[in-house]
Amino acid sequence: MRVNGVPMRAIWRDGARVAFIDQTRLPHRIAVVHADSVTLMAQAIASMQVRGAPLIGAAAAFGVALGAQRDASDEGLRAAVDALAATRPTAVNLQWALRQMQTRLTPLPVAERAAAAWVAAQQIADDDVATNAAIGQHGLELIRGLQPRSSRLNLLTHCNAGWLATVDGGTALAPVYAALDAGLDIHVWVDETRPRNQGAALTAWELGQHGVPHTVIADNAGGHLMQAGRVDAVIVGADRIAANGDVANKIGTYLKALAAHDCGIPFWVAAPVSTLDPLIADGVAGIPIETRHADEVHWLSGVDTTGRKRRVRITPEGSAALNPAFDVTPARLVSAIITESGAVPANREGVVSAIVGKGQRARANRDL
Ligand code: MRU
Repeated sequence: MRVNGVPMRAIWRDGARVAFIDQTRLPHRIAVVHADSVTLMAQAIASMQVRGAPLIGAAAAFGVALGAQRDASDEGLRAAVDALAATRPTAVNLQWALRQMQTRLTPLPVAERAAAAWVAAQQIADDDVATNAAIGQHGLELIRGLQPRSSRLNLLTHCNAGWLATVDGGTALAPVYAALDAGLDIHVWVDETRPRNQGAALTAWELGQHGVPHTVIADNAGGHLMQAGRVDAVIVGADRIAANGDVANKIGTYLKALAAHDCGIPFWVAAPVSTLDPLIADGVAGIPIETRHADEVHWLSGVDTTGRKRRVRITPEGSAALNPAFDVTPARLVSAIITESGAVPANREGVVSAIVGKGQRARANRDL
């Protein structure tokens, strides 16, 4: 996608290092960080310099490549995988990418592993871009089927599932960019997404970079806008989707799904097949939910009127705070899951058909 008009990915290889946009500095500064070790890559994921399920997966894959560069022995690889796996528990793309890397590398002689690791990580990154392009087109078909309540289409999104949350292209925002490219008159309501404000800081920034009309709203405003007929559909990403179609995504997603259901508004989840976790039968009961530090609730970060970075406390000293980072939206509230295999229903059959569709396409590509 574009940053000040220049095409850029969220992460890329830079020689023997991995470069990525530091998302903790946005929207006020565009800073690129270079990591040259597994430890730095793991820290970047844990501190959310890189975040968003697909990007976490790609970052972990590049992290393994950094590790293999230093020590490609079985023990070295295992240590790299363990360090990266321990960073964030909810986005299953992390484990998926680490599994892909291990499967590719362990059968190889140690001397060949470092080079192969870079190739495999790059392939995961490039596949993510192609996947998101397909999600964009499938989502565009759904958008075209909407009957807008006003002259312009109004979508609402939560958190950031745009290109910053992936290698490029985005998941929930891929159909938005496709709709813009197709000439549709589209506007996005952007939930601020407390406590880390990924909507206000990241989604608003990337939509602005691409000229997508958007309005940032307080998290609590969505239900009111839906009741008032000012939202045609809700579209969000996912960190993990269980076998029964339950969807884990950024905390607050469930409330938006409840409001959309009550108002008869489509609630779409856009995610790659690598976000599906068929090993978890029931998402509400089984998906692990990350609890992050209470300070993320106590403190807000931003810039003051002089542009200086400030961190301010908003809660009384002595008050406790709890910070669950994700929630699970039951499948019955999800109108469709938009994957690279197409839009599927949020149920067991839909999840299976998306996985099978992906496998069939991969086999067809190999046979060509
Ligand atoms: O805690 P984050 O910012 O990593 O959470 C991100 C989300 O919840 C996204 O909606 C999800 O990962 C999908 S990203 C394409």
